[in-house]
Amino acid sequence: MELIRIKNLSRYFGQGEHEVKALDNIDLSVKEGEIIAMLGPSGSGKTTLLNCISAIDKPTSGEYYFREQGVPREKSEEMTTFRRENIGYIFQFFNLLSDLTALEYVLLLQQISGQSNEEEARSILASVGLEGMEDRFPSELSGGEQQRVAIAGNLAKKPHLLLGDELTGNLDSETTRQIMKVLSKACKEHGITTIFVTHDRSLCKYATRVLKLDSGRLISDEVGEMATASGAVKSAVEDATELVKGGISKAEKMLSNVVNKVKDAISEKE
Ligand SMILES: Nc1ncnc2c1ncn2[C@@H]1O[C@H](COP(=O)(O)OP(=O)(O)O)[C@@H](O)[C@H]1O
Ligand SMILES: [Mg+2]
Repeated sequence: MELIRIKNLSRYFGQGEHEVKALDNIDLSVKEGEIIAMLGPSGSGKTTLLNCISAIDKPTSGEYYFREQGVPREKSEEMTTFRRENIGYIFQFFNLLSDLTALEYVLLLQQISGQSNEEEARSILASVGLEGMEDRFPSELSGGEQQRVAIAGNLAKKPHLLLGDELTGNLDSETTRQIMKVLSKACKEHGITTIFVTHDRSLCKYATRVLKLDSGRLISDEVGEMATASGAVKSAVEDATELVKGGISKAEKMLSNVVNKVKDAISEKE
């Protein structure tokens, strides 16, 4: 089912000779379940597009539908409700609240979007690899761990659409790999559609679709590795290598994982 439809969307900043076309006539349709990597040089409009999609920013012109409904543009209760019910957004310069522990942060976000549930909050933290760190404050966590708390909080909101801006921009490659795995697995499990912005081409392997922006225009739209059979096998082999490192006893799990991923990839092809 189509989640997002954007038609002729433009966002200009400034006026006259200072006018910047941050987004210039974007057309885009996103289906539920897609995991989209968005690439583009600095200043190409990536953040502006995420801001328009999340209804934080208002386009200068064009149409934007979410599940076939027009998205509210003026600051209003409707707009707040739209964001609360549909959108998770992990900002480029995210900021955890310094006096909340990881668990308290996830509970707070659950509460904002409905009801808090400690058991579920703990299980979401565990799913991003933070078991045992629930009671730590941000100052007691590494950058990668803080990023996982931000991801856990956004998963706890169970958004229909999760947006991430340069999620792993400041992290080393191993932490980046772990975070992208966690994110793509969790989104698949919870049926969350995702758009993540990145500078790092190698992250396309976690995407089912790759978009490229340049000077406010969409210049390319391709199938990502995650949506191809060979990509699924590659990722399964990577997982398997990890497991082997963890001990031969896990070989069984590894094999069934490979088999399932291949089955998934084949059924997606069909
Ligand atoms: N609030 C703003 N006021 C003026 N210009 C802006 C504003 N936000 C973004 N821009 C301009 O719009 C263009 C796209 O910016 P942005 O979406 O942040 O790019 P990216 O995230 O791809 O680096 C840039 O030229 C930027 O300077
Ligand atoms: Mg940006």
